[in-house]
Order: sequence, then C-alpha cells, then structure tokens
Amino acid sequence: MNIGKSMMLATVGFGLAAGIAYEAAAQVKPEVLVKQRKAAMTLIAKYIGPVGAMVQGKIPYDAAVVARNASFAEALSKMPWDGFETSTQNFKETRAKPEIYSNSAKFNAASDSMQTEIGKLAAAARSGDQNAVKAAFGGVGKTCKACHDDFRND
Ligand code: HEC
Repeated sequence: MNIGKSMMLATVGFGLAAGIAYEAAAQVKPEVLVKQRKAAMTLIAKYIGPVGAMVQGKIPYDAAVVARNASFAEALSKMPWDGFETSTQNFKETRAKPEIYSNSAKFNAASDSMQTEIGKLAAAARSGDQNAVKAAFGGVGKTCKACHDDFRND
C-alpha cells in the first residue's frame, strides 16, 4: 500500500470514529442527563455542606478541608448546566420547572452568579482568611436558594 492511500484510509477511519462519537454525544438520553445534573448538584451540596457547618461554628473549622471542598465545589459548579437540555423537559423524575427553558436568560444568569460566588469562596479558602470564607459562604447560599425558589419544584 502506498503512503497516500494509507493516509487516506486513516483519515476516513478517523472521520468515521469521530462521527460516531459526535452522534453518541448528541443522543444522550434525557434520563441520563437528569441523573448527571442531579449528581452534580448532590456533590456540590456534599462539599459545600461541611463548609457551612464550619463557618456557623457547628463543627471545628479546618482550613485544609475548607480549601479542598471549595475547590471541588468550584469545578462541580460548572457541571450541572449542560444537563438542562430541552429533551429533558417532559421527563417525569425531575423537579426542574419549565421556566428553565421558557426563561433561559434568567436561569443562565442564576447559574452564572452561583459560579461567580463559588469562585469567590474558593479564592477566600485559598487565601486562608476565615472571615472572607464566612462572607463568601453567605453569597453562595443565596445563589442556591434564589435559583431553587425560581426554578425548582418543592
Ligand atoms: C441556576 C439554578 C440553580 C442553582 C444556582 C443551584 N441549583 Fe440546585 N438545583 C437546580 C434545579 C433546577 C434542580 C432540580 C434538578 C432536577 O430535579 O432535575 C436542583 C437540584 C438540587 C439538588 C437535588 C439533587 C437531586 O438529587 O435531586 C441539590 C442537593 C441541589 N440542587 C443543591 C444545590 C446547591 C448546594 C446549590 C448552591 C451551591 C445549588 N443547588 C445551586 C437549580 C439550581
């Protein structure tokens, strides 16, 4: 086989493989998307929760745990959003309100502000300033509540 032909075959092979991958990504089932976005939310709560207990003095403050948890939450805060696809709208096992799709600008703004506030919490945690962590935690909690009030069923 000459080099030109084998390169061409390799290119065709890559294209086919990539095409299959794109198609698979475009067809993630609604129930999987819902499960993934709930999982991301659950993990955010898992890592934010102890930070809240520490800033409220319910458990001893541990700066290393705060820094780790805040950085986990910072990464996780970026993850739920691509699970809110319109394909999930009619799926039953969800508390997501239809306004997420009819007022997506407001939903996206709420998501952005949560990511901003968690970013501030992570920065405060890295600085080791306990008062800054406490202040930033308050900001995070408000963004969770605001979005749940508007976009999540009880
Ligand atoms: C921009 C909107 C928005 C923000 C901000 C937000 N959430 Fe949510 N959250 C939702 C929606 C919508 C659901 C319902 C998802 C579903 O049932 O499909 C949800 C569900 C949850 C759940 C339940 C997951 C499950 O298994 O059913 C938890 C826990 C949660 N959020 C925690 C948090 C925490 C903690 C924060 C703040 C750090 C937060 N959320 C910020 C919109 C938001």
